[in-house]
Amino acid sequence: LVVLIIAGVVTALIWLFTNEREQHIYEFSKDFKFGAASASYQIEGGWNADGKTPNIWDTLVHTRPELIKDQSNADVGADSYHFYKEDVKALKNAGLEVYRFSISWARIVNETNVINQAGIDYYNNLIDELIKEDIEPLVTMYHWDLPQYIEDLGGFQDPILVEHFKFYANVLFKSFGDRVKRWITFNEPWIFCIDGYSSATKPPLIESPGFGEYLCGHHMLQAHAAAYKLYNDDYREQQTGEIGICLFSNFFYPDSGVSPEVAEKTQQFQLGWFTHPIFSSEGNYPKIMIDEIKDKTVDQPLSRLPIMDDEMKNSLIGAADFLALNYYTSRLVAPMTEVHGERSWQSDVGVDFIIDEKWEKAKSWWLYNVPQGLHDLLKWIKAEYNNPTVLITENGYSDDGQLDDDDRINYIKAHLAAIHRAIHQDRCKVVAYTVWSIIDNFEWMEGFTEKFGIHAVNLTSPNKERIAKKSVSFFKDLTDQRQMIF
Ligand code: NOJ
Repeated sequence: LVVLIIAGVVTALIWLFTNEREQHIYEFSKDFKFGAASASYQIEGGWNADGKTPNIWDTLVHTRPELIKDQSNADVGADSYHFYKEDVKALKNAGLEVYRFSISWARIVNETNVINQAGIDYYNNLIDELIKEDIEPLVTMYHWDLPQYIEDLGGFQDPILVEHFKFYANVLFKSFGDRVKRWITFNEPWIFCIDGYSSATKPPLIESPGFGEYLCGHHMLQAHAAAYKLYNDDYREQQTGEIGICLFSNFFYPDSGVSPEVAEKTQQFQLGWFTHPIFSSEGNYPKIMIDEIKDKTVDQPLSRLPIMDDEMKNSLIGAADFLALNYYTSRLVAPMTEVHGERSWQSDVGVDFIIDEKWEKAKSWWLYNVPQGLHDLLKWIKAEYNNPTVLITENGYSDDGQLDDDDRINYIKAHLAAIHRAIHQDRCKVVAYTVWSIIDNFEWMEGFTEKFGIHAVNLTSPNKERIAKKSVSFFKDLTDQRQMIF
């Protein structure tokens, strides 16, 4: 018995020393805002309600349902078009202070230059409800649901996009700018340009690798600059709001045997592609991209990256009041062994992405829990762009939808701790965090098979009840006490 007891004590001590991390209290000041995020196509339903016309996601799910993992669509989904008040209650229950949502372009402008009043009414109601509950509306103007009529004109591959976006932006500023004080033009161009116009893995399913993604990015930047200028010229003085852009980024670590320069190059190709033109003083793509995106087998290679003239450069320098950053995970960069086609973004970078086996995986194939990557990315941004104001507008964890979502809480806490370190140790200017997502929703090509919400949604019931998961009490305690232990 004595031997058994001693063995038990020794095992317990070993366990304590190997597994127990030292816990800390992390305090967040009142100025740091907590919120949650969503996107129109993923939660609204009402796909053809009250004058809304189809967007590229409606077209995809209706014409190629087999491409969605569970063959589902978001025609109805969580139906926030009818149950938006439930979303506002859900935010309130979690003690959240900011709601990042997106506006469905085809609900607002349903054909060229035709404004749909019913769409404006819907967002007016949502915004008023938020304000009544003291929750700040943080609006994404474009979250991947391009009106089909604009795609039919060439979409992001055609400069016509810019004029259409400007028209739409003007309607938004005019209609909602009295109450919306923080605007985000585009959500994650790195994803929608590569998947939509290069690899054809998301709508509009255009396969033009090595060209399409760069054209898309170019027109997106022009449209962003046009909206920024419009706000400055016609609205800023009266509405006193801010306008930024939302970019997705991993942090890239070199795998063993790979030089730090290669990881740095990858960072420039992913985040720098869009941050360098706006947040550096050069107003152009990163030099490494300009140098590399050419067909080197030809004698006098032409650039496949569109060239920026001075007018475009000048319109982009400083054209954002904040950077909205979506961070989920990191990657190791390794020498390229997989085939990524003769031309494509990835063969232009010339690396493969791999995973550190120590990283814990979520439900999504691409999502590993690497909070240190967020800290390192924030330090990189501070150093590279002279410490811009950053909002973490997405970060979150996918699972099967269980209400006891301890893994999600653990992931969120670890990332908040990383943000805390970035703010307090490194003086990075991070001012807000909106978790992805307020409710379980349509996860694009994965349909409803992966859940990111802090609330579940009863999709089969007529009232689509929002059901709090354990992470809601985590946020409630955090926002009440302005601190967490981790
Ligand atoms: C980023 C996208 O903005 C959002 O729409 C998506 O659902 C999440 N990542 C999770 O994949």
